[in-house]
Amino acid sequence: MGEHARLTLGDKDYELPRIKGAAGPDVLDVRKLYADADVFTFDPGFTSTASCESKITFVDGDKGILLHRGYSIEQLAENSSFLEVCYLLLNGELPNAADFVDFERTITYHTMLHAQFDRFFTGFRSDAHPMAIMTGAVGALSAFYHDSTNVDDPEQRKISAHRLIAKMPTIAARAYKYSIGQPFVSPRNDVTYAENFLRMAFSVPAEDWKPNPVLTRAMERIFILHADHEQNASTSTVRLAGSSGANPFACIAAGIACLWGPAHGGANEEALMMLNEIGSVDRIPEFIQGVKDRKYRLMGFGHRVYKNYDPRATVMQKTCHDVLDEVGDSDDPMLKVALELEKIALNDPYFVERKLFPNVDFYSGITLKAMGFPMTMFTVLFALARTVGWISQWKEMFEDPQRKLGRPRQLYTGPLQREYTPIDARG
Ligand code: ACO
Repeated sequence: MGEHARLTLGDKDYELPRIKGAAGPDVLDVRKLYADADVFTFDPGFTSTASCESKITFVDGDKGILLHRGYSIEQLAENSSFLEVCYLLLNGELPNAADFVDFERTITYHTMLHAQFDRFFTGFRSDAHPMAIMTGAVGALSAFYHDSTNVDDPEQRKISAHRLIAKMPTIAARAYKYSIGQPFVSPRNDVTYAENFLRMAFSVPAEDWKPNPVLTRAMERIFILHADHEQNASTSTVRLAGSSGANPFACIAAGIACLWGPAHGGANEEALMMLNEIGSVDRIPEFIQGVKDRKYRLMGFGHRVYKNYDPRATVMQKTCHDVLDEVGDSDDPMLKVALELEKIALNDPYFVERKLFPNVDFYSGITLKAMGFPMTMFTVLFALARTVGWISQWKEMFEDPQRKLGRPRQLYTGPLQREYTPIDARG
């Protein structure tokens, strides 16, 4: 008999099984609580609730550890390619050489979009935010690829995962090209995933994008750093949407919509705007005072799970320096503001007491800007990279025999039943 927690309600005792994971806090199994005791648990924001069992990603927020299938993010960012990480997240193990060749080929040969798909982009206003285009375009994939929308068929689930990973760069680059009034650039099969994306974003008919190994490696790293992060808001959205049996393209579109918010993936855009607004190092104290007076938050700082330095931020900071050195912007005033702001915040009791550390978004905005991306593309790049995490978690959910429709309950505090009053009798 395993260990239990005992819950006493009135004169009755209930035993809640305590379940151990491979790492991280144990969980109390409350699945039978409502049936047995007629009470719900109350946890808005899911701060103490494990919504599923997963073998994909582990985060230790207190120690600042992030593992994908047991491998540390630092080792993956240093040694892996993004596609290798995709394979790992989807399949549970790093690929051997032959498996990797097959996987890379499969992804490479799914990068094109149906020719009719291009009309979706041109249907948007030219000033549309690329995230608005992404949400619509990715949802529309389900109108094109009917042969991979049967969620009960493992083979179709696999094909849809490959299609999504392969087509996201093409969709993201088209969303960008459309927003700046340039013609679409088709994918190429003879370059890597990251290089293909940079080519589609920055080539124009008059001039091909010149390959740059530092920028390609930086893109690769940015994709790896954003690939998955266990049950965050957008991933939980994808799982919840998927729990009803909705097709994978629709589920990923739901994830993209959730990611867009400034408390989640939209923070990199906000962080750069904030650094821009501060403008110079001498204005930092005044800005910090505004944060303490709760006029605004320090964007790119703080995390629901990390109460220590986000390990992705460490890699991101290094990548940021590499890129700025390469493009000759190492004197970028925004980098100076960021470095100084970080130094001050890490020593200020307001931030120390609340365990607020830089998150991955603090340096990603400066890096992406130096690579030539406008702010509106930052969250799009995050969505592109996170697609593999979303679809791996979605796939895992379908492979779980305990899968159930996600349906939270509530604490109702509204009016009790009352009589309808005709409009002319209302005060
Ligand atoms: N700046 C200033 N104060 C902050 C910040 C911040 N960035 N983040 C949290 N705090 C303070 C809160 O005011 C609160 O203080 P109080 O206890 O005195 O009221 C305390 O720290 C706890 O904050 P909560 O909002 O309860 O913490 P939560 O875990 O819900 O917030 C969140 C996490 C939303 C990420 C928050 O830290 C935040 O808004 N950060 C800025 C946005 C950001 O960078 N988001 C990116 C997240 S990473 C990602 O999506 C890849």
